[in-house]
Amino acid sequence: MKVFVAGGAGYIGSHTVYELIRAGHEVVVYDNLSTGRLGAVHPKARFYEGDILDKGRIIEVLNCERATGAVDVAMHFAAKLIVPESVSQPLEYYHNNVEGLRQMLVALVETEVKNIVFSSTAAVYGDSERGECFEDDLTLPINPYGETKLADERMLKWAGEAYGLNSCIFRYFNVAGADATLEIGLDKDQLTHLIPLIMQATLGLREKLSIFGNDYPTPDGTCIRDYIHVTDLAKAHVLGAEYLYQQQESLLVNLGSGKGYSVKEVVDVASQLFDFAYEYAPRRAGDPAKLTANITRAREQLAWQPILGLKDMLQSDHDYRQKLLEVSR
Ligand code: UFG
Repeated sequence: MKVFVAGGAGYIGSHTVYELIRAGHEVVVYDNLSTGRLGAVHPKARFYEGDILDKGRIIEVLNCERATGAVDVAMHFAAKLIVPESVSQPLEYYHNNVEGLRQMLVALVETEVKNIVFSSTAAVYGDSERGECFEDDLTLPINPYGETKLADERMLKWAGEAYGLNSCIFRYFNVAGADATLEIGLDKDQLTHLIPLIMQATLGLREKLSIFGNDYPTPDGTCIRDYIHVTDLAKAHVLGAEYLYQQQESLLVNLGSGKGYSVKEVVDVASQLFDFAYEYAPRRAGDPAKLTANITRAREQLAWQPILGLKDMLQSDHDYRQKLLEVSR
């Protein structure tokens, strides 16, 4: 397959490009390099600089690629994804995430690309009552980030009906880790996420980690989340693209490990690997007590299953950050 990857220089996009190339596919990366980095683009992928909001440029790239064979599947990773930032800048989020997808879809329809793999989020579920989320659960986002991704999901549904565009929508849970080669990993983050903050503490860049709240209705009182290794997540995208190409029908699936870890459990596993200090702090606003993925559909429809565990995520993320620090010294 020839795959067009918007946002292929970013964290999840670059890992997916690596897995696509490992699986033998041809890859075209499109990125404005605002948060992505040219060095993260696999050397065997063709790179075009451009913005997701610029449908003219997307059309130009897709037409240019047609000379060597049309694009079979497009992927969309070029979105903003920081929950607190979405609360303070909702209009930016609607512009980038909703208008951005609309521009891309106009370009795909115009150039007759029929398949798209799209990154959505567990944030569309909002405060899940049950804790374990199924794809058919009610979606009630509690922040603008989740709202924009839900609007995107609906746009894809209607565009599918009107223009015959097939979509594979992935709802990600908590993604972490780095590629085993350590050539790519998480370069830039806003430091709101648990694992990057643990790493800062282990590498001496922060005095200690704060655990936000120990009075939640969970066994140890700290919040439970579903952590998935970025390499497992990236491999699911390859299967999603192949599914669209072969089946020509749409799919919506959760991507998590299907297993919940409390914040304290993550801290305990990290403490077995590295030295760092932590303390308990008050709850952080907007955190649901428990959010885990039911991944039956991903297993059944894509024959996918997560292989790497929490230790792999922590160790690879740590090693990648250490490598970056050594390079910058
Ligand atoms: N946490 C701490 N200390 C920290 C940072 C986080 O205790 O220093 C806790 C949080 O309170 C939460 C858990 O660790 O209980 C995980 O928090 P993250 O910020 O790492 O991740 P979230 O679960 O809040 O967010 C993730 C994704 C979002 C997505 C959301 C879906 O990063 O993009 O899941 O609910 F929208």
